[in-house]
Amino acid sequence: MSKINVNLPTGAAMPALGFGTWQATDEELESALNNALECGYRHIDTALVYENEAVIGKVLKQWLDSGRLKREDLFVVTKLPPSGNHPCLVRKFFTQSLDALQLEYLDLYLIHTPFAFKYVEGNLHPTNEDGEFLVDINTDHIAIWREMEKLQDEGLAKAIGLSNFNERQIKRICDNARVKPSNLQVELHVYFQQRPLVEFCKQRNITITAYSPLGSRGITSFMKKLGFDRDFPDLLSNPVILEIAKKYGKSAGQILLRHIVQRGIAAIPKSTNQERMKQNIDIFDFELSPEDITKVDNLDLGEDGRVCDFAFFKGLNKHPEFPF
Ligand code: A2P
Repeated sequence: MSKINVNLPTGAAMPALGFGTWQATDEELESALNNALECGYRHIDTALVYENEAVIGKVLKQWLDSGRLKREDLFVVTKLPPSGNHPCLVRKFFTQSLDALQLEYLDLYLIHTPFAFKYVEGNLHPTNEDGEFLVDINTDHIAIWREMEKLQDEGLAKAIGLSNFNERQIKRICDNARVKPSNLQVELHVYFQQRPLVEFCKQRNITITAYSPLGSRGITSFMKKLGFDRDFPDLLSNPVILEIAKKYGKSAGQILLRHIVQRGIAAIPKSTNQERMKQNIDIFDFELSPEDITKVDNLDLGEDGRVCDFAFFKGLNKHPEFPF
């Protein structure tokens, strides 16, 4: 069975299984991305705030210059940072990402979050002395979107989309957009299947990408490091998942990812471990049966399954566009 794509309304094909890069250090990422490209990953997901675009650009350039890859083989996604959520800053941050990635265009450019930070030169996460984020409460999604549309018009971004937006915010953009969003990237995994939001986007021809598809292991460790003492469920050791994994001779991670991809949703697991990254993309030689899909569907906790509620950004819920 060959690899599956998710087709964007622009006509572009986005590989359903992508390589997530949040929280990978530069040293890890250089060899990890080389390994990922060797294993067949072609969809690479990053963001300006991950501060790793330069190393990604370096590796991609080596592959492109050597002829091992053609630009059209790749699907590269990056995102406008929260401090770039001001119409006059969209192009500046886009160009910064494009330059760091050493590319002439992006396959998909997303607005990373619906809320905005104040723009402070050289500081992507500005806070006051109490550690509260300096939010800019005058965020105008429509004006920002107009600037995003220009990037697509000019062919600099082949497609544009949103991340972490809620239904109300997406609807408002759709109702006012000349160029509709092609993709929404949100937290999505077996405990948080995002059924209503996925259905809402399907009706508007917006494709979905699942971040934290393995149950937010990355966010969990990030929040633990910041001192958040929450009890995070471990999807990878869920007995239903383990039982299904055993039946198919696959790992728990592969079952979790296959369930997402079989819903027509793209997934971008992050792994810098060669064995796990290989496993994560090796999910195209089996199909979950309808009975097993139902078993996994039933693990959905709805809103209670959300891990990434941005609680780690102190003071953020004061922003009028806080999405949750
Ligand atoms: P590592 O990079 O050491 O593989 P998520 O994208 O849901 O946040 O998950 C990413 C986290 O899960 C990373 O900590 C990653 O660690 C780990 N991980 C990635 N793939 C797998 C897998 N197949 N099984 C178990 N853990 C995984």
